Amino acid sequence: MARLTEPVTVQVRHTEELSEKELHELRKMLVEVFGARYDDNAWDHCLGGIHYLLRYGDKLVAHGALVPRYMRQGDRVLRGMYGESMATLDDWCHRGFGSTIVAMATAEIRLNYDIGVFAASKYSFYERLGWDKWRGQTFVETEHGIEARGPDRGAVMFRLPRHSTVDPDGDLITNLRSGDPW
Ligand SMILES: CC(C)(COP(=O)(O)OP(=O)(O)OC[C@H]1O[C@@H](n2cnc3c(N)ncnc32)[C@H](O)[C@@H]1OP(=O)(O)O)[C@@H](O)C(=O)NCCC(=O)NCCS
Repeated sequence: MARLTEPVTVQVRHTEELSEKELHELRKMLVEVFGARYDDNAWDHCLGGIHYLLRYGDKLVAHGALVPRYMRQGDRVLRGMYGESMATLDDWCHRGFGSTIVAMATAEIRLNYDIGVFAASKYSFYERLGWDKWRGQTFVETEHGIEARGPDRGAVMFRLPRHSTVDPDGDLITNLRSGDPW
């Protein structure tokens, strides 16, 4: 693996702080990583929250986003953050860039929110970093009521702050959205 000679930095930015140029650069990078399955829904899902933009010199090489999302357990509405569009460009994988972003996003959740959630298939990558699969049942709120739904692929993963009273063996409910509900 080539030695790094440029500085590695992580910018933390809200979507509204990103210029058109930066948004274009980000979407291009995400399409490069995910290919054709990175459609308009996937892009919409990653907007409206916090972006972690990891650069090698000026080049954007890794990204993860946390987006505020409705979460409920029983009658308790949770301050939830949802993880989206975690990606490292192929040539830059296995250098700890993805783990750095997950660690920063995890710290944000544990300091300021009731729960962090996202759907993943690369379990071991996140389990190493303290995330776990949701053990209870998952639901989405539709106009017809609550429906038991999981992600189209993978599993719902979660992270809680210290001393949380959220029960990971209980029900977890979110809102319906276009595309994959989780
Ligand atoms: C999953 C993904 C984000 C990981 O990004 P990354 O930058 O390679 O992540 P890291 O380097 O932090 O860790 C990846 C692996 O490298 C290892 N690693 C971590 N730091 C390392 C270092 N400094 N040197 C060598 N290896 C390292 C880790 O052990 C990890 O191995 P594991 O997955 O077998 O447990 C990246 O592979 C990716 O974008 N994949 C395609 C898109 C995708 O699937 N996104 C996630 C949706 S759930």
